[in-house]
Amino acid sequence: MSNLEFLFNPAHIAVVGASRSTQKIGYAVLDNIIKSSFKGNIYPINPNEEEIAGLKTYCSVLDVKAPIDVAVISVPAKHAAKVAEECGQAGVKGLIVITAGFKEVGKEGLKQEQELRSICKRYGMRMLGPNCVGLMDTHSPVNASFAEGFPNRGNISFISQSGAMLVSILDWSFEMGMGFSRFISTGNKADLTEIDLIESCADDPQTNVILCYVEDITDGERFVRVCSEASKKKPIIILKSGTSSAGAQAASSHTGALAGSNRAYDAAFRQSGVLRAESMNDLFDMARAFATQPLPGNSRTAIVTNAGGPAIVATDAVEKYGLKMARFTKETIDKLREHLPSEANLYNPVDILGDARDDRYRFALETVIEDENVDNALVLLCPAAVTEPEKTARTIVELNNKHNHKPVMAVYMGGKTLTEGRSYLTTNSIPAFTFPEPSVNSLRGMLQYAQYLKAPDPSEPVELTGIDKKAVRKILDDVFADRRVVLLGHEASDVMSAYGIQVSKTYLAESEDEAAEIGEKLGFPVALKISSPRIAHKTDVGGVAIGLHSDKEVKKAYRKIIENVHYYLPDAPIYGIEVQDMVEEGIEVIVGMSRDVQFGPLVVFGLGGIYVNLLEDVSFRLASGLTTREEVKKMISETRAYTLLKGYRGKKPADIEALSETILRTSRLVSDFREITEMDINPVRVHYKGATALDVKITVEEVNEKG
Ligand code: COA
Repeated sequence: MSNLEFLFNPAHIAVVGASRSTQKIGYAVLDNIIKSSFKGNIYPINPNEEEIAGLKTYCSVLDVKAPIDVAVISVPAKHAAKVAEECGQAGVKGLIVITAGFKEVGKEGLKQEQELRSICKRYGMRMLGPNCVGLMDTHSPVNASFAEGFPNRGNISFISQSGAMLVSILDWSFEMGMGFSRFISTGNKADLTEIDLIESCADDPQTNVILCYVEDITDGERFVRVCSEASKKKPIIILKSGTSSAGAQAASSHTGALAGSNRAYDAAFRQSGVLRAESMNDLFDMARAFATQPLPGNSRTAIVTNAGGPAIVATDAVEKYGLKMARFTKETIDKLREHLPSEANLYNPVDILGDARDDRYRFALETVIEDENVDNALVLLCPAAVTEPEKTARTIVELNNKHNHKPVMAVYMGGKTLTEGRSYLTTNSIPAFTFPEPSVNSLRGMLQYAQYLKAPDPSEPVELTGIDKKAVRKILDDVFADRRVVLLGHEASDVMSAYGIQVSKTYLAESEDEAAEIGEKLGFPVALKISSPRIAHKTDVGGVAIGLHSDKEVKKAYRKIIENVHYYLPDAPIYGIEVQDMVEEGIEVIVGMSRDVQFGPLVVFGLGGIYVNLLEDVSFRLASGLTTREEVKKMISETRAYTLLKGYRGKKPADIEALSETILRTSRLVSDFREITEMDINPVRVHYKGATALDVKITVEEVNEKG
């Protein structure tokens, strides 16, 4: 149960910095609380006034001498700490700090913000903001904000990191006829973050859908944990902005370059059942669909239209977004044939022709909704001389109420002529769109959520045996003692072995004679690879030779590699050359990891080799969610590499079980050792039987346990 009830349904509120001046925020906040029909006591706090807006005014919250749940603070930043201290002493439970001028203005502001936070901690107060617009709850009701207006009552909660976004959406919502349960501005998130607010909204009986606009999430691990629970109660749709690829570009490994924070957010959202909106439109389109329609049982979509072109666009969108066009039963087709004109298209999409009046829409829509092969319906209407947009809007609403277990959406394609019909639909709980794609995309979102709810709980994490953590610890300590951040090939190979990952045997040779000797021992043919902490991509500098069949070939290749490296990278320190046994043929894939600042290790799988970044045939998972064989299988199956692994064009299938084991063990390794910051096993060669890590690159960083 959420413990923030006092914030959204406070018994009594104080407004510190309440003002008579209508130009001031302190006035707007007080005025909003009064106008929102707040039921409790309101205490304006202003040392220079005795009464504001007909309410007795106090010098300080300490003078109120009555319980106060929430204090909204609207005094300049330099007074905020003192006011917070007084609130703490007065037993206030929560602060809404509107005041700006904290961490967003620099170091001094950050210090003041930290002071505010520690005051709150000391008194056990929770704080929204600072630098926020405030919050609104239309059901309690309370408008503790300085926004212009109060939302229509509804069942959508909107949490926004941007105050400007919040007030703009509020204004827009009036025009759109949308209703909300809560509007929350998180501001600088010094204490309460979107995670706390999502958790609270998930427990709010008046909220059916949670929308969120975020610029950053700072506690990724908690986000995943809380949202995984919350999303089982309510759909959560998040628009995450600012996902630049700057971080990814700076990465040195293949995986690092592929990953980037955007992928980590994708993986985290997916793991926690959160739907990701791609745009503001997307966010609110989906919100309307979720808020008004039942979840689809499956993806089979029926389309009823009075025009061919838009139906083709809609059909394309159905395919693009991974839904299916429903195949009607024989009874449905017969019935449609019997009652529709002979020129009509009876198969999905059902084209009831340009001269269709409301009666034809009614008949066709009801017939397809009643078909057991249909999970949801889309009604397309284009304005023609005889079209009856408003009457049809009423019909759609009526049929949706009658068959209320299947979602219906309307696309009224046009402008002025359709405004009233569209507005009737919207106000009567039918998501109405101007073009087909967003309607299908909203259905996709609903289906994705429905499938998330239906998916069985993940099984227990796999028990992995044969893991030698101590051996890895020792290797990492040696690397740190050598002041290196990249493991040499033979060290990386030993790490693999310690985690039970099959790896090609690798030994370091410091001379051509030693290389030849190792070759003899391993048995020819062998491969040679340059060993230097400065060389990440060995092939690029002529640092690799393969298929060497004799000691003579090994010695010659040794000299050539040294020569190449001296030529391309004269300053690179060379530790020697690794001698590796040649591994049998197989399909080459990549398994890697990049550590995300917020979400921790992000594991990648995909088609391997030197073109991995070009082809980007990859899938991602947070290591924290990659602990079961089922999840690993899903991850593999999302790539085109999977088609190859299954046996493409008559080839024998590769050992996907062995590959899964490699991925699982890699995931465990990077979870066990926070020191590993990046990792590429490229390629892992997947044979008909077994899978071997061929080239392993591990980058590390010493971890300060206290930090
Ligand atoms: N206790 C109670 N009242 C106090 C006080 C205190 N310790 N200190 C000052 N006040 C009173 C003032 O006397 C004034 O009342 P008055 O109009 O009767 O004189 C009122 O509080 C406001 O103080 P004032 O100094 O006039 O500040 P202001 O209203 O011009 O600005 C803020 C205050 C908080 C609005 C301003 O500092 C600010 O942060 N603005 C940006 C807000 C914002 O954009 N937030 C983020 C949105 S995303």
